[in-house]
Amino acid sequence: MSIFKISTDCNNYFSFVRKDYDCMTNARKWTAGKIAVTLTIPLLVNVAQPTLKETFKNDFLIGAALNTRQIEEKDTGAARLIASQFNAVTPENIMKAEVIHPGWDTYRFDLADELVAYARKNNMKVNAHNLIWHSQLPAFVRRMKDADSVRSYFVNHINTVAARYDGSVYSWDVVNEALNEDGTMRNSIFLQKLGEDYVVDAFRLAQKATPHSKLYYNDYNIEQPKKRAGAIALIKKIQAAGVRIDGVGIQGHWRAAHVPMADIEESIRAFSALGIEVMFTELDLSVLPNPGDRTTADVGQTAGYQASLNPYPDGLPDSVANMQAAAYADLFRLFLKYPGKVSRVTFWGVGDGGSWLNDWPIRGRTNYPLLFDRQLRPKKAYFSVLAAKSH
Ligand code: G3I
Repeated sequence: MSIFKISTDCNNYFSFVRKDYDCMTNARKWTAGKIAVTLTIPLLVNVAQPTLKETFKNDFLIGAALNTRQIEEKDTGAARLIASQFNAVTPENIMKAEVIHPGWDTYRFDLADELVAYARKNNMKVNAHNLIWHSQLPAFVRRMKDADSVRSYFVNHINTVAARYDGSVYSWDVVNEALNEDGTMRNSIFLQKLGEDYVVDAFRLAQKATPHSKLYYNDYNIEQPKKRAGAIALIKKIQAAGVRIDGVGIQGHWRAAHVPMADIEESIRAFSALGIEVMFTELDLSVLPNPGDRTTADVGQTAGYQASLNPYPDGLPDSVANMQAAAYADLFRLFLKYPGKVSRVTFWGVGDGGSWLNDWPIRGRTNYPLLFDRQLRPKKAYFSVLAAKSH
């Protein structure tokens, strides 16, 4: 039963009461002036306000990258939140080569099988991540010296892993992060040993191994003009070879204060003009300063800890939370401007506490890049994203 009609921003609505009201779990003691009242308001937010996946159900899928604890539903509160908010899931790590294919003839499918069962139970689409990536490769591949071995690994890996999940995952990030910032091909083990056609070959093998999955190219910073041009050339090359590619994932690891809106809009137009889906696949908006003022998601680029680069260890100031909320709202308004072109928006994590950005590029910082806080309560950014639909 819902007692109140609440405003779009639950946190603002309750701003006159003490902060022990929890906008998501609803039952809390709250105090106005000298009067203390304990109210249990069942399903207040859920009844009064659609969740993310409900709000955008006619626009695009809403996904989250999940870790093993979340897939195994170890925490009931988190499990309930995730199932109510998201209709798509990307495994944050468990389908990467080093986990799923640790030895020449050794495959470890248990975790990915759990993910598939979890997604089926919760009516979510799985975007499998990923088949070919230079990072998180198994040690036996990192040690390879000759091209024949790399070719055998490449073919076996795609054939075995992609085929196993044909019909049970919705889509695959077939190739991840193959480009440099200037749009040229990254000098990975695959480029060195297999030559530049390896991307086309990966899609060709995937198309055969998993004919029922959509096939995507995924990368960061491909909204930037030079890297975008490289991605467009790569996609055209795949298409010219008569090989299927269904979409492109723009990762979306941006800084809240510097979201490149014009480049993103131009990218939606340019990629969709190729006749493929456009997705935002790893969205998070960092609020921390980056060493060297860089915008990248290159996991190899790290730096040492300095307190000055960790300005909010005890909480996010309102001014920053508001700035981030506005940035998220602008982004979602932009996604909504292109109906039928943006097919999925996936956040890279659920709550701020679990984000990779607490440990990258500097270990041990306190970042706040997502829509839910460390207790999984919705932040201002959550409400601003919902409000973007109606304004
Ligand atoms: O699994 C080991 C565990 O056994 C060990 O005890 C622990 C000690 O540090 O490390 C664990 O591995 C970590 C792994 O995440 C699983 O938690 C790695 O150290 C850590 O480097 C790894 O980070 C992941 C990163 O990719 C690695 O490349 C992040 O969680 C993950 O969010 C991140 O995701 C990537 C996307 O796949 C591609 N785009 C960029 C994005 C962010 O970097």
